[in-house]
Amino acid sequence: MERLGLPRYAADDLPGIRSELRDGAGFALVRDVVSHSADAGDCLTRFGQALGRLLPQNAKQEVLVEIVDFSDEDEFDDRGYRSPGELNPHTDPPPMIVLLCLRPARHGGTNRLVSADSIREAIRKENADLLPVLEEGFAFFMPDETTPGAGRSRDVIPVLIDGPGGMSCIYYRPFIERAAEVAGAPLSGKSVAALDLFDHFANDPGLQVQHTLVAGEALILNNYRVLHARDEYEDWPEKAKRRHLLRLWLDADWLPEPPQAHAGRRNPMAALL
Ligand SMILES: [Fe+2]
Repeated sequence: MERLGLPRYAADDLPGIRSELRDGAGFALVRDVVSHSADAGDCLTRFGQALGRLLPQNAKQEVLVEIVDFSDEDEFDDRGYRSPGELNPHTDPPPMIVLLCLRPARHGGTNRLVSADSIREAIRKENADLLPVLEEGFAFFMPDETTPGAGRSRDVIPVLIDGPGGMSCIYYRPFIERAAEVAGAPLSGKSVAALDLFDHFANDPGLQVQHTLVAGEALILNNYRVLHARDEYEDWPEKAKRRHLLRLWLDADWLPEPPQAHAGRRNPMAALL
């Protein structure tokens, strides 16, 4: 059930969408991205180009990615987004994400959104001593896209950091834990406590907005400021009926410049590879 509504826009209201993402909630539900009889991928691509620049999302340099779960018969997926399990609140690499739903799951798959600002304020009230741990950040694991389990540990990246254009958040706990494992340097008790408290508030239903996308709806979010999560879902066994989304990664000049420590987000594949 939807607790709070998402701001809603028609796809041609670009000024409204831009201002909602930059200065408002940081996310929006968009209708009418796909016009009848047109190819959904082409329509979504045009919508993305009207808002900003399409960014490559993988080593194959794809700018339009299909999200369908074929994990029962396909190769491994080290990023987790093509499997039906629950995804905890996290950020993706780029400045903005657009998800267009072509077909929802049989059950479940609700998206949950939470603002990084509200998580930080809640931590400040609960245990402000843990904030510097998150502001200092953690080494981040970057998986190799072709070899299961392989990858490398990158420099320390702040989880929460302020910049000239506002706060920026980068968070994906499995890669923080994996980096510590690869380095053979377990996270300290204080680090684990900071991450646990972050997760606690990121999962607090009182701070989240929830929505289950129906066919034709697109969700767009400012990935600097908003974390996203997805509930577990159950698909139909038939391939042709499975949950099917299309995803874009976007950057745009109208977004504020990220803080220096998060500047790699503007060209995420270059930062990852
Ligand atoms: Fe994601």
